[in-house]
Amino acid sequence: MLLENKVAIITGATRGIGLAIARRFAKEGCQIAFCARSRNEKMIQVEQELADTGVQAKGYAVNVADYQEAQAFVAEVMQDFGHIDILVNNAGITDDSALKRMTEEQFDHVVGVNLKSVFCMTKAIQPIMWKQGHGSIVNIGSVVGIAGNYNQANYAASKAGIIGFSKSCAKEFAARNIRVNIVCPGFIETEMTAEVPTELMNTWCSRIPMKRPGTADEVAQACLFLASDMCPYITSVVLPICGGMEDA
Ligand code: NAI
Repeated sequence: MLLENKVAIITGATRGIGLAIARRFAKEGCQIAFCARSRNEKMIQVEQELADTGVQAKGYAVNVADYQEAQAFVAEVMQDFGHIDILVNNAGITDDSALKRMTEEQFDHVVGVNLKSVFCMTKAIQPIMWKQGHGSIVNIGSVVGIAGNYNQANYAASKAGIIGFSKSCAKEFAARNIRVNIVCPGFIETEMTAEVPTELMNTWCSRIPMKRPGTADEVAQACLFLASDMCPYITSVVLPICGGMEDA
């Protein structure tokens, strides 16, 4: 198994891509500390499902965009699990509109969650990985952060910011054997994209060379590769998972 005896923190893992990553990692023997904003029925269900595969798994209610909460979360995971080998910064939101209608609040909210959460969690985990002398951080960006998108200037800015932030950390952490990579999904079918009208969905798919959306597990498999010891010399890489979309 690729992640046996490793401990991973996965943010935003009660559904969508985060949940697929948690499932994939658990199958590979990884112990999972995951979070979402609240401890609800779904979190308990996920905890149970992961534990049923034979790994230690615990869900935490955390706002990962809050500096103090992120610090407390990582400290609690250390107490519960003893070490942390992998961090997947997956939590993210959208709040779309054309720039001419976009409010300051919409911009601050999306950048404040998507980009700041990556800063907060990386700051909290860095001293631990530094002391261990190893670690793999996988940040979930988006092809929109590379190519831009209509009605998503706030989201694109947050995801482009994640790329710059990650590449800077990759340089700073490399000598301590801590790798930082960015996975950039294209159009992936999840609860987040379920709200997209069918007509728009079909237009998007027609522009994808593979003519279909990706699955959450296809993103999870890329995260597994980058999180595992299969690629010890890969850091600072931006990996699009997008069915060949041209400008990604
Ligand atoms: P989703 O909306 O299904 O799940 C997002 C998760 O993040 C939820 O569990 C939610 O509780 C959690 N979350 C949000 N804000 C949080 C906060 N402040 N603190 C803690 N948890 C928080 O989203 P989906 O589609 O699974 O996306 C996951 C990641 O992949 C996001 O970063 C998204 O931007 C990115 N992505 C998704 C694409 C898609 O087509 N679905 C395409 C490109 C990137």
